[in-house]
Amino acid sequence: MNQQEIINRATLFAKDILKNDATGHDFDHVIRVKEKAMYLQRHEGGDIFIISLASLLHDVDDHKLFPNHQHLENATSFLDAEDISETDKNKILEIIQQISFKGKDSQTPSTLEGRIVQDADRLDAIGAIGIARTFAFGGAKGRKLYDFTERPKRDMTEGEYLNNNSSSLTHFYEKLLLLKDLMNTDTAKKMAGRRHRFMQLYLKEFLDELNLNEDD
Ligand code: ADP
Ligand code: NI
Repeated sequence: MNQQEIINRATLFAKDILKNDATGHDFDHVIRVKEKAMYLQRHEGGDIFIISLASLLHDVDDHKLFPNHQHLENATSFLDAEDISETDKNKILEIIQQISFKGKDSQTPSTLEGRIVQDADRLDAIGAIGIARTFAFGGAKGRKLYDFTERPKRDMTEGEYLNNNSSSLTHFYEKLLLLKDLMNTDTAKKMAGRRHRFMQLYLKEFLDELNLNEDD
């Protein structure tokens, strides 16, 4: 099997499925996750083929985008049509299931490759890009920009997290600000610090403009 050709086909497959997404999970997100995962791989090691395919396929069955999908149907049908060993297929599918944020039910992936793809996906959820994606998601779902009558919910179960309809600003407190301490690899921990500080600065400015910051 030619691994590069399989990676190229997976790229086209993900592009076809996600090209029209307007929730911040579009094909550009997939490419950023793959590039970030490759960067982490250079520092942390891990199997490049597994990391590439898991990155490229990680959102093709996302329940937020495809609520009616059978379990991992797109990723499975792609992998089944390729000449890939059962061991590698299972590793890739396992990573896709393990990386998603599910409140307190979030998992630490069992393989280095999974921990790298999870870090890459989470790095793309924070910082300047994370802020842009959060408001894009909120807009696409008809959520409010902010709602100060909401109290951020902590320690949500997977079910509570999936059914949660918080405003975009509340989402920072329910997920984005928690990610820095949930990074797996040392390389991602270092990258997360700067992005985290930028979000804190952004939130301060946001609240200052509303005159709601007590230390104004
Ligand atoms: P994962 O990609 O790990 O499954 P999420 O399901 O939390 O992660 O969603 C991915 C991104 O979608 C988040 O990082 C955020 O930008 C956006 N998002 C999810 N839920 C909300 C929400 N309630 N309000 C605004 N943005 C959200
Ligand atoms: Ni993603």
